[in-house]
Amino acid sequence: MSLLVANQLVKRFGALLATDHVSFAVDRGEVHALIGPNGAGKSTLVNLISGLLSADAGTLVLDGVELTGLPPHRRVACGLSRCFQVTSIFPQQSVGENLLLAVQAHAGSSFRMLRSRDRDAALHAQARDLARRVHLESEWLRTAGTLPHGAQRKLDVALAIAARPKLLLLDEPMAGMGPVESAEMVRLIRSLRQDMAILLIEHDMDAVFQLADRISVLVYGKVLTCGTAQEIKANPQVQEVYLGSEADAMEAAA
Ligand SMILES: Nc1ncnc2c1ncn2[C@@H]1O[C@H](COP(=O)(O)OP(=O)(O)OP(=O)(O)O)[C@@H](O)[C@H]1O
Ligand SMILES: [Mg+2]
Repeated sequence: MSLLVANQLVKRFGALLATDHVSFAVDRGEVHALIGPNGAGKSTLVNLISGLLSADAGTLVLDGVELTGLPPHRRVACGLSRCFQVTSIFPQQSVGENLLLAVQAHAGSSFRMLRSRDRDAALHAQARDLARRVHLESEWLRTAGTLPHGAQRKLDVALAIAARPKLLLLDEPMAGMGPVESAEMVRLIRSLRQDMAILLIEHDMDAVFQLADRISVLVYGKVLTCGTAQEIKANPQVQEVYLGSEADAMEAAA
Protein backbone atom coordinates (compact mmCIF):
# COMPACT_ATOMS: atom_id res chain seq x y z
CA MET A 1 0.00 0.00 0.00
CA SER A 2 1.26 3.50 -0.82
CA LEU A 3 2.10 5.97 1.95
CA LEU A 4 0.28 8.94 0.41
CA VAL A 5 -2.65 8.55 -1.95
CA ALA A 6 -4.19 11.58 -3.64
CA ASN A 7 -7.38 10.86 -5.47
CA GLN A 8 -9.00 13.24 -7.95
CA LEU A 9 -7.84 16.43 -6.21
CA VAL A 10 -9.32 19.64 -7.57
CA LYS A 11 -8.39 23.27 -6.81
CA ARG A 12 -9.88 26.24 -8.59
CA PHE A 13 -8.73 29.86 -8.41
CA GLY A 14 -11.72 31.61 -9.96
CA ALA A 15 -11.97 30.30 -13.51
CA LEU A 16 -8.50 28.72 -13.37
CA LEU A 17 -8.36 24.99 -12.72
CA ALA A 18 -4.94 24.94 -10.98
CA THR A 19 -5.32 21.30 -9.87
CA ASP A 20 -7.33 19.32 -12.38
CA HIS A 21 -8.44 15.98 -10.91
CA VAL A 22 -4.96 14.94 -9.83
CA SER A 23 -4.44 11.37 -8.67
CA PHE A 24 -1.05 10.08 -7.67
CA ALA A 25 0.70 8.11 -4.94
CA VAL A 26 3.93 8.31 -2.99
CA ASP A 27 5.28 4.95 -1.82
CA ARG A 28 7.09 4.25 1.44
CA GLY A 29 10.83 4.92 1.25
CA GLU A 30 10.45 6.66 -2.09
CA VAL A 31 11.80 9.96 -3.36
CA HIS A 32 9.01 11.08 -5.67
CA ALA A 33 9.72 14.16 -7.76
CA LEU A 34 7.06 16.48 -9.09
CA ILE A 35 8.19 18.41 -12.15
CA GLY A 36 6.49 20.61 -14.69
CA PRO A 37 6.75 24.04 -16.29
CA ASN A 38 6.18 27.30 -14.38
CA GLY A 39 2.57 27.65 -13.37
CA ALA A 40 1.82 23.93 -13.85
CA GLY A 41 0.36 23.71 -10.35
CA LYS A 42 3.19 22.06 -8.40
CA SER A 43 3.15 24.44 -5.42
CA THR A 44 -0.64 24.41 -5.39
CA LEU A 45 -0.54 20.63 -5.12
CA VAL A 46 1.98 20.76 -2.26
CA ASN A 47 -0.22 23.34 -0.52
CA LEU A 48 -3.23 21.03 -0.90
CA ILE A 49 -1.23 18.16 0.60
CA SER A 50 0.13 20.20 3.54
CA GLY A 51 -3.29 21.73 4.16
CA LEU A 52 -2.28 25.34 3.50
CA LEU A 53 -4.96 25.32 0.81
CA SER A 54 -8.17 23.33 1.02
CA ALA A 55 -9.18 21.24 -1.96
CA ASP A 56 -12.49 21.87 -3.75
CA ALA A 57 -12.86 18.14 -4.34
CA GLY A 58 -10.95 14.89 -4.00
CA THR A 59 -9.40 12.94 -1.14
CA LEU A 60 -5.99 12.61 0.44
CA VAL A 61 -4.94 9.67 2.61
CA LEU A 62 -1.62 9.37 4.50
CA ASP A 63 -0.74 5.96 5.88
CA GLY A 64 -4.40 5.00 6.00
CA VAL A 65 -5.50 8.26 7.68
CA GLU A 66 -7.84 10.59 5.83
CA LEU A 67 -6.27 14.07 5.75
CA THR A 68 -9.00 15.77 3.76
CA GLY A 69 -10.34 18.71 5.76
CA LEU A 70 -7.66 18.60 8.48
CA PRO A 71 -5.76 21.84 9.24
CA PRO A 72 -1.96 21.89 8.66
CA HIS A 73 -0.92 21.23 12.28
CA ARG A 74 -3.12 18.13 12.45
CA ARG A 75 -1.50 16.87 9.25
CA VAL A 76 1.93 17.37 10.85
CA ALA A 77 0.77 15.20 13.75
CA CYS A 78 -0.29 12.57 11.17
CA GLY A 79 3.25 12.44 9.77
CA LEU A 80 3.44 15.17 7.17
CA SER A 81 6.11 17.86 7.26
CA ARG A 82 7.21 20.45 4.78
CA CYS A 83 9.87 22.98 3.93
CA PHE A 84 8.82 26.26 2.47
CA GLN A 85 10.44 27.97 -0.47
CA VAL A 86 10.75 30.91 1.90
CA THR A 87 12.56 29.65 4.94
CA SER A 88 10.83 29.31 8.30
CA ILE A 89 13.89 29.75 10.51
CA PHE A 90 14.09 32.38 13.26
CA PRO A 91 16.93 34.54 11.90
CA GLN A 92 17.72 36.32 15.21
CA GLN A 93 18.11 33.05 17.14
CA SER A 94 21.12 30.78 17.05
CA VAL A 95 21.13 27.53 15.07
CA GLY A 96 20.93 25.62 18.34
CA GLU A 97 17.99 27.68 19.62
CA ASN A 98 16.13 27.13 16.34
CA LEU A 99 16.63 23.38 16.64
CA LEU A 100 15.71 23.26 20.33
CA LEU A 101 12.48 25.14 19.63
CA ALA A 102 11.58 22.72 16.83
CA VAL A 103 12.37 19.66 18.95
CA GLN A 104 10.36 21.07 21.86
CA ALA A 105 7.38 21.79 19.60
CA HIS A 106 7.22 18.14 18.58
CA ALA A 107 8.23 16.51 21.86
CA GLY A 108 5.82 13.72 22.67
CA SER A 109 4.11 12.91 25.95
CA SER A 110 7.01 10.65 26.99
CA PHE A 111 9.07 13.82 27.41
CA ARG A 112 6.53 15.43 29.69
CA MET A 113 6.87 12.49 32.06
CA LEU A 114 10.56 13.25 32.60
CA ARG A 115 11.93 15.50 35.34
CA SER A 116 12.83 18.90 33.94
CA ARG A 117 16.60 18.38 33.99
CA ASP A 118 16.30 15.02 32.20
CA ARG A 119 13.84 16.52 29.76
CA ASP A 120 16.22 19.37 28.91
CA ALA A 121 19.04 16.89 28.39
CA ALA A 122 16.89 14.71 26.12
CA LEU A 123 15.69 17.67 24.06
CA HIS A 124 19.25 18.95 23.77
CA ALA A 125 20.47 15.56 22.58
CA GLN A 126 17.77 15.44 19.92
CA ALA A 127 18.54 18.97 18.74
CA ARG A 128 22.25 18.13 18.54
CA ASP A 129 21.41 15.02 16.57
CA LEU A 130 19.42 17.10 14.08
CA ALA A 131 22.36 19.50 13.71
CA ARG A 132 24.58 16.51 12.97
CA ARG A 133 22.19 15.11 10.39
CA VAL A 134 22.25 18.31 8.36
CA HIS A 135 25.96 18.94 8.97
CA LEU A 136 25.51 22.13 10.99
CA GLU A 137 26.95 20.96 14.32
CA SER A 138 29.88 23.39 14.00
CA GLU A 139 27.41 26.28 13.56
CA TRP A 140 25.44 25.56 16.75
CA LEU A 141 26.10 28.99 18.33
CA ARG A 142 25.87 31.03 15.16
CA THR A 143 22.95 33.41 14.60
CA ALA A 144 20.83 31.62 12.01
CA GLY A 145 20.24 34.70 9.86
CA THR A 146 23.98 35.09 9.27
CA LEU A 147 24.39 31.61 7.76
CA PRO A 148 24.99 31.38 4.01
CA HIS A 149 21.90 30.60 1.93
CA GLY A 150 22.67 26.90 1.51
CA ALA A 151 23.18 26.41 5.24
CA GLN A 152 19.89 28.21 5.99
CA ARG A 153 18.11 25.76 3.69
CA LYS A 154 19.74 22.85 5.53
CA LEU A 155 18.57 24.30 8.83
CA ASP A 156 15.10 24.60 7.34
CA VAL A 157 15.20 20.89 6.46
CA ALA A 158 16.30 20.10 10.03
CA LEU A 159 13.32 22.05 11.43
CA ALA A 160 10.98 20.09 9.16
CA ILE A 161 12.38 16.68 10.12
CA ALA A 162 12.22 17.55 13.84
CA ALA A 163 8.57 16.49 13.52
CA ARG A 164 9.78 12.98 12.51
CA PRO A 165 7.57 12.93 9.43
CA LYS A 166 6.60 9.87 7.41
CA LEU A 167 6.50 12.12 4.37
CA LEU A 168 8.59 15.25 3.84
CA LEU A 169 7.47 17.83 1.26
CA LEU A 170 10.28 19.85 -0.30
CA ASP A 171 9.35 22.74 -2.61
CA GLU A 172 12.45 23.73 -4.59
CA PRO A 173 15.09 23.06 -1.92
CA MET A 174 17.90 23.88 -4.37
CA ALA A 175 16.46 27.25 -5.45
CA GLY A 176 19.13 29.95 -5.51
CA MET A 177 21.97 27.55 -4.78
CA GLY A 178 25.27 27.22 -6.59
CA PRO A 179 26.59 23.83 -7.72
CA VAL A 180 28.46 23.09 -4.48
CA GLU A 181 25.46 23.85 -2.25
CA SER A 182 23.15 21.90 -4.58
CA ALA A 183 25.41 18.85 -4.42
CA GLU A 184 25.36 19.06 -0.62
CA MET A 185 21.56 19.27 -0.60
CA VAL A 186 21.37 16.23 -2.91
CA ARG A 187 23.52 14.29 -0.42
CA LEU A 188 21.38 15.47 2.48
CA ILE A 189 18.10 14.46 0.80
CA ARG A 190 19.55 11.09 -0.10
CA SER A 191 20.57 10.52 3.53
CA LEU A 192 17.01 11.27 4.73
CA ARG A 193 15.21 8.75 2.57
CA GLN A 194 16.06 5.82 4.82
CA ASP A 195 13.76 7.38 7.44
CA MET A 196 11.02 9.03 5.40
CA ALA A 197 9.46 9.28 1.98
CA ILE A 198 10.07 12.55 0.16
CA LEU A 199 7.97 14.50 -2.31
CA LEU A 200 10.42 16.75 -4.13
CA ILE A 201 9.53 19.71 -6.32
CA GLU A 202 12.59 20.89 -8.15
CA HIS A 203 13.50 22.67 -11.36
CA ASP A 204 17.11 21.40 -11.20
CA MET A 205 16.78 18.35 -13.46
CA ASP A 206 20.25 17.12 -12.53
CA ALA A 207 19.14 16.85 -8.92
CA VAL A 208 15.78 15.31 -9.86
CA PHE A 209 17.35 12.62 -12.00
CA GLN A 210 19.92 11.84 -9.31
CA LEU A 211 17.40 11.55 -6.50
CA ALA A 212 14.00 10.48 -7.74
CA ASP A 213 12.80 6.89 -7.71
CA ARG A 214 9.77 8.07 -9.65
CA ILE A 215 8.84 11.33 -11.32
CA SER A 216 5.35 12.74 -11.93
CA VAL A 217 5.03 15.38 -14.61
CA LEU A 218 2.41 18.06 -14.05
CA VAL A 219 1.14 20.20 -16.95
CA TYR A 220 -1.74 22.69 -16.73
CA GLY A 221 -2.80 21.19 -13.42
CA LYS A 222 -2.94 17.62 -14.74
CA VAL A 223 -0.60 14.66 -14.29
CA LEU A 224 0.78 14.03 -17.77
CA THR A 225 2.70 10.89 -16.82
CA CYS A 226 4.57 9.18 -13.99
CA GLY A 227 7.64 6.97 -14.30
CA THR A 228 11.30 6.36 -13.55
CA ALA A 229 13.94 8.88 -14.60
CA GLN A 230 14.72 6.72 -17.64
CA GLU A 231 11.06 6.56 -18.66
CA ILE A 232 10.54 10.29 -18.18
CA LYS A 233 13.66 11.21 -20.17
CA ALA A 234 12.55 8.98 -23.04
CA ASN A 235 8.94 10.19 -23.10
CA PRO A 236 8.29 12.30 -26.24
CA GLN A 237 5.30 14.06 -24.63
CA VAL A 238 7.51 15.21 -21.76
CA GLN A 239 10.17 16.43 -24.18
CA GLU A 240 7.51 18.43 -25.99
CA VAL A 241 6.34 20.08 -22.75
CA TYR A 242 9.90 21.03 -21.93
CA LEU A 243 10.59 22.79 -25.24
CA GLY A 244 12.88 25.77 -24.70
CA SER A 245 15.14 26.44 -21.78
CA GLU A 246 14.05 23.56 -19.60
CA ALA A 247 14.43 21.10 -22.49
CA ASP A 248 18.08 22.15 -22.63
CA ALA A 249 18.35 21.61 -18.90
CA MET A 250 16.80 18.19 -19.34
CA GLU A 251 19.19 17.27 -22.14
CA ALA A 252 22.15 18.52 -20.15
CA ALA A 253 21.06 16.36 -17.23
CA ALA A 254 20.32 13.30 -19.41
N1 LIG B 1 -3.58 32.05 -4.61
C1 LIG B 1 -3.75 32.03 -5.95
N2 LIG B 1 -4.73 32.76 -6.53
C2 LIG B 1 -4.90 32.75 -7.87
N3 LIG B 1 -4.17 32.01 -8.72
C3 LIG B 1 -3.18 31.26 -8.21
C4 LIG B 1 -2.91 31.24 -6.79
N4 LIG B 1 -1.86 30.41 -6.57
C5 LIG B 1 -1.50 29.94 -7.77
N5 LIG B 1 -2.26 30.45 -8.75
C6 LIG B 1 -2.19 30.13 -10.19
O1 LIG B 1 -2.30 28.72 -10.30
C7 LIG B 1 -1.43 28.22 -11.30
C8 LIG B 1 -0.49 27.20 -10.66
O2 LIG B 1 0.43 27.89 -9.82
P1 LIG B 1 1.55 27.16 -8.96
O3 LIG B 1 2.20 28.18 -8.13
O4 LIG B 1 0.95 25.99 -8.27
O5 LIG B 1 2.53 26.64 -10.11
P2 LIG B 1 3.98 25.98 -9.96
O6 LIG B 1 3.95 24.75 -10.81
O7 LIG B 1 4.37 25.83 -8.56
O8 LIG B 1 4.89 27.07 -10.70
P3 LIG B 1 6.44 27.47 -10.41
O9 LIG B 1 7.26 26.43 -11.11
O10 LIG B 1 6.56 28.79 -11.09
O11 LIG B 1 6.68 27.52 -8.94
C9 LIG B 1 -0.73 29.42 -11.90
O12 LIG B 1 -1.43 29.80 -13.04
C10 LIG B 1 -0.85 30.47 -10.81
O13 LIG B 1 -0.84 31.76 -11.36
MG1 LIG C 1 5.95 26.66 -7.34
